[in-house]
Amino acid sequence: MVQIAPSMLSADFLHLEKDVRMVNENADLFHLDIMDGTFVPNISYGFPVVEAIARKAEKPLDAHLMIINPDKYVERFAAAGVKMLSFHYDAVEDPAYVIEMIRANGMIPGIAINPDIPVEKLFPYISSCGFMLIMSVFAGFGGQKFIETTYSRIRTLKEEINRQGAECLIEVDGGVSPANASALAEAGADILVAGSAVFKAADPSAVISAMKQDQII
Ligand code: DX5
Ligand code: ZN
Repeated sequence: MVQIAPSMLSADFLHLEKDVRMVNENADLFHLDIMDGTFVPNISYGFPVVEAIARKAEKPLDAHLMIINPDKYVERFAAAGVKMLSFHYDAVEDPAYVIEMIRANGMIPGIAINPDIPVEKLFPYISSCGFMLIMSVFAGFGGQKFIETTYSRIRTLKEEINRQGAECLIEVDGGVSPANASALAEAGADILVAGSAVFKAADPSAVISAMKQDQII
């Protein structure tokens, strides 16, 4: 069954503990979007927020780094309690080096790509990553419209993962909601990130269970 990773970027920061509890009770992972205002034109939040969430989280933390020089911060994310750590393909010179560094710090590495980067660029790293993060919007902001070409990108990547006999999971991020969750799972997605669909809903837990049960609501 597909795993759901609510994006805390859309949480209520004045009542963060309430939203952390909701994720603990209903979802599978905490998706933490880290933006530096340089790799992407937006700034999100940093270590104080990640550490606060970590103190109450009962599900693994999945941090998505949208920053330049991600290698500089790998150790600190490990110390903050992050379990899955992804960086953008075009934010580094040598992805293999950063993957190795993430593993050496006891975390599961993943590479993220924006919709304009061919998925084939990920193929050489499939066997060394625990997951790949396919962006279904351009990284930088929550609440954007899902890009439809994502389905074929997931299928292409899934075929290559199977061809290599690798364990690598596929995570999809951006504009995910109950309206496209089942089609994404069918295309080969293993983890669905959802920010606004979950936190802007009157009943976030109902949205999560709708996405998990592949129902359309
Ligand atoms: C966008 C972030 C996403 C974002 C998803 O750059 O990586 O994780 O929070 O938000 P929604 O689900 O609202 O598109
Ligand atoms: Zn993200």
